[in-house]
Amino acid sequence: MTDPAPGSPAPGEPGSGSAVPARVQDRFAQEFGATPRPVLWFAPGRINLIGAHLDYSGGDVMPLAVDLGVYAAGRLRDDGVIRLRSLDQQLAVDTRVDAIRDRRDPAHDWAGYPLGVWQEFREWTGLAPGVDMVFGGDLPMASGLSSSAAIEVATAFLLDDLLGTEIDARELALLCHRAETRYVGLQCGIMDQFASALCRPRHALLLHCHDGTYEHVAMHGRGFEILVMDTRRPRTLATSGFNDRVRECAEAHRILRRDVRDLPYLAAYSQADVEAARGALGATLYKRARHVVGEMVRVRSGVAGLRTGRVEQFGAALTGSHRSTSVDYEVSCPELDLVTSVACESEHVFGARLTGAGFGGCAIALIEPGTAQQVERRVDREFSARFGTRPAFMVLHAGGGPRRVD
Ligand code: GLA
Repeated sequence: MTDPAPGSPAPGEPGSGSAVPARVQDRFAQEFGATPRPVLWFAPGRINLIGAHLDYSGGDVMPLAVDLGVYAAGRLRDDGVIRLRSLDQQLAVDTRVDAIRDRRDPAHDWAGYPLGVWQEFREWTGLAPGVDMVFGGDLPMASGLSSSAAIEVATAFLLDDLLGTEIDARELALLCHRAETRYVGLQCGIMDQFASALCRPRHALLLHCHDGTYEHVAMHGRGFEILVMDTRRPRTLATSGFNDRVRECAEAHRILRRDVRDLPYLAAYSQADVEAARGALGATLYKRARHVVGEMVRVRSGVAGLRTGRVEQFGAALTGSHRSTSVDYEVSCPELDLVTSVACESEHVFGARLTGAGFGGCAIALIEPGTAQQVERRVDREFSARFGTRPAFMVLHAGGGPRRVD
């Protein structure tokens, strides 16, 4: 069977009949006028299957783009004005190209993502167009499915199209990553922007974050489905806690280089190296480093299981990843621990883990096809009894990368 071309829609994939693109076009027409017709792009959100918090330590991660994401409609202007609207956010932002600085203005809130991309575009191409844009999505916001990377990537592909700059997809992903780290201020790795920009339908992306190389790993016909369990707990520590972990990993790397051996990134060390530096690392950095090197082993085992059709092995790697992310990396929360552990009690579940940064948001479970409702009922019952609220559930599929919607 031939794989669909990168970025092309997977025929018959659920989610392909979304009502959002028409709503985005309508809103654009209301706000800015219908003609000339704006250009519309879609970019997907992502699930990270395995490789928790490894990207900024140079490790391997394996996300896939989901069949939900963000739509961006846009039209250039020649008067230096930028106007941004969203179907899901109250705040409308009107600004001017000469008012944009190299750091996000907190008053711009969600619009910091497209403005960050716009700013990086200006640096890369020397072009500084005025533009009208409207965004809308069918992805739950701020839940760990990378709605922010989807906004960035949709903006980048849209601007590239409007300006005719023909920047390749990997370069656009890097540009979006710079928007996030330099303009928005989250010191994240490259995973989310690469996943959104480069994934193919029905494939996961095995990404080597130390050099940004990657390969597409087939996901179809593997004998499982992916159930997303959204705790709906807001990710309150997502920015501050995240940047703390980035700092801790940089410090652990510095100590390992000094005391054990000089390797270029933290994920390259072994468990024996981390043990050798245990005293110098101290309790917290030891746990962080132990997670990173152990997660690299789990990624290898999980990917091998996936490639050879051993779903149990893949699932066990996910469950081990969650435990380490919770105990050693300390980015889980009681809600995420509950949904993953209750899911794993079911005979239909191969493994489960939080996805994304953690601190709230979503977890995933690898389940036997067709068993979602049974697993959901069980998790829902125990979750409501313990927290008095209800999680949301979705079975998501490996959709494609960004695409122009006509
Ligand atoms: C967030 C970041 C990513 C990655 C994950 C954790 O999604 O944006 O770069 O670090 O958390 O794996």
